[in-house]
Amino acid sequence: MWYFCSPRVVFGEGALDALDELQGRRALVVTDVTLVELGLVERVQAHLHAAGIEVRVYAGVEPDPSVRTVRQGTQVAQEVQPDWIVGLGGGSPMDAAKAIWVLYERPDLEPAAINPFIDLGLRQKARLITIPTTSGTGAEVTWAIVLTDTKEGRKMGLGNRENVADMAIVDPVMAAGMPPRLTADTGLDALTHAIEAYTCTWHTDLTDGLCIHAIRLILQHLPRAVADGSDMQAREKMHNAATCAGLGFGNAMASLAHAMGHVLGAVFHVPHGRAVALFMPYTVEFAARQAPRRFAELAALFGCSAAEEEQAARSLAGGIRELCRKVGNPTCAAQAGIERVAYEGQLERMVDDAFNDTQIVTAARVPSYDELHQLFLYAYEGRPVDF
Ligand SMILES: NC(=O)c1ccc[n+]([C@@H]2O[C@H](COP(=O)([O-])OP(=O)(O)OC[C@H]3O[C@@H](n4cnc5c(N)ncnc54)[C@H](O)[C@@H]3O)[C@@H](O)[C@H]2O)c1
Ligand SMILES: [Zn+2]
Repeated sequence: MWYFCSPRVVFGEGALDALDELQGRRALVVTDVTLVELGLVERVQAHLHAAGIEVRVYAGVEPDPSVRTVRQGTQVAQEVQPDWIVGLGGGSPMDAAKAIWVLYERPDLEPAAINPFIDLGLRQKARLITIPTTSGTGAEVTWAIVLTDTKEGRKMGLGNRENVADMAIVDPVMAAGMPPRLTADTGLDALTHAIEAYTCTWHTDLTDGLCIHAIRLILQHLPRAVADGSDMQAREKMHNAATCAGLGFGNAMASLAHAMGHVLGAVFHVPHGRAVALFMPYTVEFAARQAPRRFAELAALFGCSAAEEEQAARSLAGGIRELCRKVGNPTCAAQAGIERVAYEGQLERMVDDAFNDTQIVTAARVPSYDELHQLFLYAYEGRPVDF
């Protein structure tokens, strides 16, 4: 038995107008300072005011939000007593908003206790709206919450089906001002979601189509959106692709590249999308020897298929690397600017944490501890994986 969860999704240019129809008294907008400075928060505020809703803004969310930030935001929510919580931003503010909402409704819980196996009983006090301003994480439609334990330097994968948003507003205008680097990093995150969800062991008939279409859209439109941020067609297609990929992996799973990327992000502060995309080709090559079939299917979308499945899967890895290069992204950890001594110094810990990451269990080929160690080493130097 499988579930498919999704908020009501309002998308396309002008989607923000959906806020004008909202019923309620008070909203808490959870966001970050950059988005205040860019005037995106003001736009959302104006729509909420048009609906007669009082607005309070909590702009304290940092990239890769910490448990501390979530606690602070929850305190603000307890003061304001909103009936709507609005997560506005990239994955970081949207994840923080989900956690703040859960703790506002359930002050008895610790953030680390938000897991899929408990009844949360949400929606007694408020409901959640998500508005993405990056085209990448899909957090607007997933129930996953990624928080960072800053003491341990570890990312925690939390969340419960109940904390999926009530409404996601996917308006490309909100992402139109992203600089090229952010466009590339977040777009590659969406690509990694789609490829990993399509090839993981939890893929389903309902998620496959979303993933394949997301890949098609990204291949066509990511280089355009990076090269020319004012190309609104490319922006809109990328915004939709990220949401499709989010629905795909949110209802299946991500996989090994996310397990590895999470630790690189937590230890070396490499942005999430850059980190996961960097590892993806190595994980594809690793799977190619034992479980190539679904990777081989995707190779055709990249225009690099081969008669034999293992070869086709390997050519997919090549296609991913080529796209990364085209949009100016690193294809190995050395290129991401990490010193060899620093990387090797953290290697055991990274292998440990990745080995314990929830995303690893659904990999097409699950590595042993030693194999994972090797994968991290190969991905430092950019050596193709052949074991
Ligand atoms: N919950 C999920 O399903 C899920 C999935 C993938 C990633 N994540 C998490 O999401 C986080 C990463 O999110 P992200 O990649 O969207 O980045 P982010 O939210 O961390 O934002 C990165 C930076 O981009 C800026 N920014 C955002 N929108 C902008 C815009 N339109 N114009 C200019 N600058 C803008 C932000 O202010 C911030 O400084 C990580 O913590 C990751 O673990 C969650
Ligand atoms: Zn991701």
